[in-house]
Amino acid sequence: MTYFNEQPLGAPIGTEIVDLDLSEPLSDRAFAALGEAFARHPVLAFRGQTLAADRMSAFARRFGPIMAGVDPKYRHPDTPEISFLTNVDQDGGVDQFGARRASAWHYDGSFSTAPPAAAMLYGIELPAIGGGTEFADTARALERLPAALRQRIEGLQTVNHFGLGPEGRDYYDGLTPERWGQYRPVRKPLILAHPKTGRPGLSFCMIHTAGIAGMRHGEAAELLRELLAHVAQTDNVYYHRWRPGDVVLWDEHATMHRNAGDFPPAQRRIMLRAMMLP
Ligand code: SIN
Repeated sequence: MTYFNEQPLGAPIGTEIVDLDLSEPLSDRAFAALGEAFARHPVLAFRGQTLAADRMSAFARRFGPIMAGVDPKYRHPDTPEISFLTNVDQDGGVDQFGARRASAWHYDGSFSTAPPAAAMLYGIELPAIGGGTEFADTARALERLPAALRQRIEGLQTVNHFGLGPEGRDYYDGLTPERWGQYRPVRKPLILAHPKTGRPGLSFCMIHTAGIAGMRHGEAAELLRELLAHVAQTDNVYYHRWRPGDVVLWDEHATMHRNAGDFPPAQRRIMLRAMMLP
């Protein structure tokens, strides 16, 4: 039986799943078929959905326990495991942090020893122009690295500490010492095998990867920028142009992503967000 159809989106990653209504509970077989599609394509897009936060939560939970967003301010009042991603503050003005957050390349939870395995966004109100999300394939980027660079990074460990990545201060400069004090530096391999497919990929984050073990700070930041230039090459990236009702689901171990940051902050951009643990 066919539960849905797949349609390429014209980029090396990014496939559209057509004819599947996510507001309805999926049978185990339909969900297994979706899981297979997700293993082949680390970014899946679904158009034309209508999802209340509790339905989004129910769908997200099929992938694993939901990890609440780090900032309680953005949690959904009735379904707190789901967060808002919004540039609109409570008075209807521009939420400056919300407008620019996540516009550096990252994977979610890089600062944590237990990061999410997958995440999902649901578009509610989107800017008329721009406002997209970009996704890059980190395994393909590793495969295409020049041999000398690949050799240079073999065996290196990243040191991840909340907000201290090369572009982290752009977002988290005002973090209170109490909140920042909750986080400790976490070491991880810079080349990491995908826990399910075993395919190795680059694993770092421009917001929270504070350095590389045994390397001077400036040298590490320079290396991360050099690697990012390979990850974010246009032909390695899928740009999702949002429409209200879109859902995008991505594999955190196989991709990096960012808010493309290409919209005027005064244009409303409101989405719901879920992150799922393994
Ligand atoms: C995110 O990092 O989850 C947000 C990406 C975006 O705002 O497009």
